[in-house]
Amino acid sequence: MTPRALGAERFVPPSEDLGRLREASETCEGCDLFRDATQTVFGTGPENARLVLVGEQPGDDEDKTGRPFTGPSGGLLDRALDQAGIDRDDAYVTNAVKHFKFAQLQEGGRRIHKKPTRGETTACRPWLIAELNAVRPELVVALGATAAQSLMGPEFRVTTQRGIVHDLEFDGLDESTSLLATVHPSSVLRLRDSERKAAFAEMLVDLRKAAEFIGAEQHH
Ligand code: URA
Ligand code: SF4
Repeated sequence: MTPRALGAERFVPPSEDLGRLREASETCEGCDLFRDATQTVFGTGPENARLVLVGEQPGDDEDKTGRPFTGPSGGLLDRALDQAGIDRDDAYVTNAVKHFKFAQLQEGGRRIHKKPTRGETTACRPWLIAELNAVRPELVVALGATAAQSLMGPEFRVTTQRGIVHDLEFDGLDESTSLLATVHPSSVLRLRDSERKAAFAEMLVDLRKAAEFIGAEQHH
């Protein structure tokens, strides 16, 4: 019999070393998502990054590569960051939830992404907090509602509160920091061609505010 999952807390070592955290995350059983996914997809990027980007959870590609935002959403994110004058290599990139959640219609069939529940997001949050305590960024950019609500609470609405720098304080977060939310890249990808351009442009407006906030060099 398996005990009820109680969250990642007891798997997170008291460490600010990203390598140690990553290694420990590989055996996390803080919620049921570890059972069917291939591997834990921990964050990647420099430990002294001034910017942390937080997505929702790994997708099919990320589940296989073990790295965040390597699939189609990652491609769109890369283009948006580039146009906003943010070098992805300077940012620490991670997700609110570290295991892929999916439905598989038939054996060997395509794996369809499923949105994590609030319980799963809460279970995984200790990893995100540990990453933030290790990196101590100036700004966290939440990509979509799952990331934004994990850190700002369930009342947070990306539609009305995006593109604004909010104070980020959290129980367990050693140092307060700032957070700016924008839409999730996959929400832009899902739109019809006619709407996608505008949504991408709006995402760029938000990311340029993030770039301005951290004083990144703008491209001309
Ligand atoms: N979507 C996310 O939120 N994160 C990833 O890493 C990939 C897709
Ligand atoms: Fe642990 Fe997060 Fe994976 Fe759940 S999703 S098993 S809490 S790493």
